[in-house]
Amino acid sequence: MTAESPIKIAPSILSADFADFGREINGLEAQGADWIHVDVMDGHFVPNLTFGPQLCRAIRPHIRTVMDVHLMISPVDPYVEAFAEAGADILTAHLEAGPHVHRTLQAIRGAGCKAGLALNPGTGLSDLDPLLDMVDLICVMSVNPGFGGQKFIHGQIAKVSALRRMIGDRPVHVEVDGGITPETAPLMAGAGADVLVAGSAVFKGGSADDPTPYGRNIRAIREAANAARTAA
Ligand code: DX5
Ligand code: ZN
Repeated sequence: MTAESPIKIAPSILSADFADFGREINGLEAQGADWIHVDVMDGHFVPNLTFGPQLCRAIRPHIRTVMDVHLMISPVDPYVEAFAEAGADILTAHLEAGPHVHRTLQAIRGAGCKAGLALNPGTGLSDLDPLLDMVDLICVMSVNPGFGGQKFIHGQIAKVSALRRMIGDRPVHVEVDGGITPETAPLMAGAGADVLVAGSAVFKGGSADDPTPYGRNIRAIREAANAARTAA
């Protein structure tokens, strides 16, 4: 999970058919998804509502890869145990979600999950230093969280480069989330991201009945990202 770790594509099921998560996940994994990204929103930390631990528990048996749970909720701590019990492999909380992110990260690892820390586009890297040895993943949001299908914020590319330098040789994934397409993926991979979350760009043109477009879309993002690394 250095800048040289194989690129992972993590489709966000925010863009899936909400009446058919099981088949959607089966289709995504059959078509090459490396992780399944689950966007949890509370209508308070972000202006949208999605799902909670019960949904995570229900889809868990369908996920053979990695269940990557992105918590856009505040407070976080009262729910960590429930998401861990629901089978999350990675639990990512936002730095902006409360004053005690250190305690939140301890709780996530204490519950047996890998710990992730997400940063909104308006958040800098200055508070990260004391947290770098407590995380397995840092997620740089390249849109303001809340909705799929938003426009990529180019200013986040420099943040990814600076973050990768800060991480040094620590075993920490750099994930990017929001507006990732075959056009923007190489910009983030070139800057040092190794996990690319994509919703709209993966689901475009496909469905649970015909998931082959998911495969084409995943390959296009992966190939563009890998090409940027070779060029670097
Ligand atoms: C945004 C979510 C993202 C989102 C990505 O709040 O965290 O995971 O679903 O969607 P796209 O790829 O459509 O920007
Ligand atoms: Zn997300």
